[in-house]
Amino acid sequence: MRRRLVRALARPLVLAAATTVIPMAASAPAAADSIVVGGFPVDVGESPWTVALSSRDRFGGTRAGQFCGGVAVGRTTVLTAAHCMDEEILGASPDRVPDLRVIAGRTDLLSDRGQEIAVRDTWVNPDYDRVTNSGDFAVLTLAEPLPSDSVIAMAGAGDSAYRVGTRATVYGWGDTTGAGTYAGSLHAARVRVQPDTLCESAYPGGPGGAYRAETMLCAGEIAGGRDACQGDSGGPLVAQGRLIGLVSWGAGCGWTGSPGVYTRVSDIVRTLG
Ligand code: ARG
Repeated sequence: MRRRLVRALARPLVLAAATTVIPMAASAPAAADSIVVGGFPVDVGESPWTVALSSRDRFGGTRAGQFCGGVAVGRTTVLTAAHCMDEEILGASPDRVPDLRVIAGRTDLLSDRGQEIAVRDTWVNPDYDRVTNSGDFAVLTLAEPLPSDSVIAMAGAGDSAYRVGTRATVYGWGDTTGAGTYAGSLHAARVRVQPDTLCESAYPGGPGGAYRAETMLCAGEIAGGRDACQGDSGGPLVAQGRLIGLVSWGAGCGWTGSPGVYTRVSDIVRTLG
């Protein structure tokens, strides 16, 4: 039992290793880490489009099999990160994971509230680039519809929600410390949209990826402290009530000078047409 838990939590860390950049000497973990990191607990009723991706078969049942986040943009359409569907993470292609599900309406993974809905189909962006991490999104089609109020609108190109300085909120069940402390219940952190130039200089290219302004969005706090972290990938970044990003990658979590990198939702809208 204990062994199973260790294995289950070890898997997402493979992902962490694969997508984490080694920080420069100047970067240091910011103080006051907690949550998503630097966040606060929220009820999923406040962001009903935020869902957990689950496979107990792959990740064990301790936290209902949660391994990534997702966001409902249609009653049977959930967006997540392409890297969440990687064979390296799932141990098989997504259509071979027998119990791939979306969990909606469940704040606390240890409870049995809300719904678990089977994933009927998975589509991974064919332009996803594992070197830069560009195009990090996948579309899941659910076997049954979510309630109509569990859907969020996507912000298209030119939407004011993408303006630098805009306040945004990121949601997830991921690591709350950057040291593998996976949350049992949903957390959120408030961040701001940052200039592309900040992420371009923070992430010119390295083991975690390379920042590309056309397909990625830079968000966080200049001083660090508030950020998404491992296990949050695929989950929503919301500004002005619209979806602007999916948690994708970054160096560490909440580190000064290393903002979070998100999949730019306007690029998803453009791709999906
Ligand atoms: N790659 C991580 C995941 O799969 C997300 C990392 C986000 N990191 C960050 N510092 N914002 O869960």
